[in-house]
Amino acid sequence: MNNKYISLYKKNHLNKEDERLGLFQRLNDEYSIKKALYPGSYAHITPIFVFPEVIFNDVYTKLQKFFDSDEIFKYINIRKLYSGEPYYSYICEDYNKKLDIEENYFDLLISQYAGFISRACRLYLKVGGILVVNNSHGDASMASISNDYKFIAVINKRGKKFSLSTRNLEQYFIPKKNIEITEEFLEKHMREVGYTKTATDYIFKRIR
Ligand SMILES: C[S@@+](CC[C@H](N)C(=O)[O-])C[C@H]1O[C@@H](n2cnc3c(N)ncnc32)[C@H](O)[C@@H]1O
Repeated sequence: MNNKYISLYKKNHLNKEDERLGLFQRLNDEYSIKKALYPGSYAHITPIFVFPEVIFNDVYTKLQKFFDSDEIFKYINIRKLYSGEPYYSYICEDYNKKLDIEENYFDLLISQYAGFISRACRLYLKVGGILVVNNSHGDASMASISNDYKFIAVINKRGKKFSLSTRNLEQYFIPKKNIEITEEFLEKHMREVGYTKTATDYIFKRIR
């Protein structure tokens, strides 16, 4: 059997021990998520193992064949952790443009190493929906200065375990240096800001 598409997932995630399955499971335990949007996903299909409906998005045309393949469909059906059918699709588009999806629809917006998704894709998330974001490109910082999101929890990875905490949230997003964190600053630098206390991932709730 030709496993070229599964190989892409394995090479990027399984073999690097970077599936982040525990992250999505922990989110599901806490917030009971059905529908997720994953802009800048590349071939990171792990969320569809946990959530029954996921829209993936990236700019690469070649990923259309990956997502349309029987091989990936079968693999998802082997790995999925829920009883129903998985529903997923891929949108090949710059997420800064208007995507052909409903607004106020998703329970979860995923932002991992792919730019300012919290700002560009907020309207697709339900009010009350959850944003999970790391700060690799400064997107957690971007969400932290937005009036549209409320910072509600952090997730930390130790070994393979992802633990969620809602404690001492006021201690996060405090810059080590005396700098003002603005949208312009984050757009210019597009990287992690040096904070006195950090987490693997940050959880926000869309409040408007
Ligand atoms: C470093 S990879 C991260 C992939 C995946 N999120 C993960 O955590 O493994 C960043 C991906 O984001 C995509 N990306 C960056 N900007 C984008 C945009 N404006 N619209 C859609 N995809 C974008 C890139 O094409 C790339 O595949």
